Amino acid sequence: MSDTIAVLGGTGALGRALALRLARSGSPVVLGSRDAARAAATAAELQELLAAAGTDARVDGAANEDAAAAGEIVLLATPWDESGATIAALAPALTGRLVVSCINPLGFDAQGPHGLAVAEGSAAEQVAALLPGSTVTAAFHHLSAPSVADLDRDLSGEDVLVCGDDAAARARVVDLAAAVTGRPGVDVGALRQARVLEPFTAVIIAVNKRYKTRAGVLMTHVDPSRARA
Ligand SMILES: NC(=O)c1ccc[n+]([C@@H]2O[C@H](COP(=O)([O-])OP(=O)(O)OC[C@H]3O[C@@H](n4cnc5c(N)ncnc54)[C@H](OP(=O)(O)O)[C@@H]3O)[C@@H](O)[C@H]2O)c1
Repeated sequence: MSDTIAVLGGTGALGRALALRLARSGSPVVLGSRDAARAAATAAELQELLAAAGTDARVDGAANEDAAAAGEIVLLATPWDESGATIAALAPALTGRLVVSCINPLGFDAQGPHGLAVAEGSAAEQVAALLPGSTVTAAFHHLSAPSVADLDRDLSGEDVLVCGDDAAARARVVDLAAAVTGRPGVDVGALRQARVLEPFTAVIIAVNKRYKTRAGVLMTHVDPSRARA
């Protein structure tokens, strides 16, 4: 039986898209929202989409706290919040969970997208500070939600870069990435690498605007069989 995956912020663009692909790959998925009814409605919508695509998948919806408690792995697909209030309130429900932050703290001004300064160094490190009882990793920063939501789109040419301070947790998220893109994620090391991964998304968005595309990241010459434990 696959791990149950909770997606907090599961009613949003990235959360819905990741939930679709993870459910299609066979994992039971629970969408979390600040409003349980909204989560249930979104879950029903995704389940219908998957049924239409010929997949017998399981997607449920719940309040963020109940979704967090239900998931062995919990994706944070919520906007960055300097105060961290929502995440801090979920700390008890997230104790013992493998948490994956997908959060990009970005700003937009006349010069385009840019990374925001985060007191802890990155949103992922802020999450780790707020959730001392959880194992925190970060990944999926560079995927484009519309591309992920398009189940016909081949994402196997894109890399998901995974960081975290726990090697076993990183390895699980590397595998989780394969359930989304069809290609294992790339383990880039300690959680502090999120200081680079998160603001790099501003570069991708700037490229997308300039070239009218949905660009992805590809790390060349990385052979998964040569990964050091
Ligand atoms: N969109 C992308 O292509 C993409 C790609 C990679 C990473 N990301 C990152 O993933 C995260 C989500 O992006 P998104 O585009 O999916 O955002 P979004 O659609 O604006 O929001 C996601 C969900 O978060 C919940 N939410 C909103 N404000 C919140 C708050 N203050 N506290 C808790 N929950 C809140 C909302 O759900 P409820 O109202 O139902 O609670 C919303 O549906 C962001 O950090 C973004 O940087 C996005």
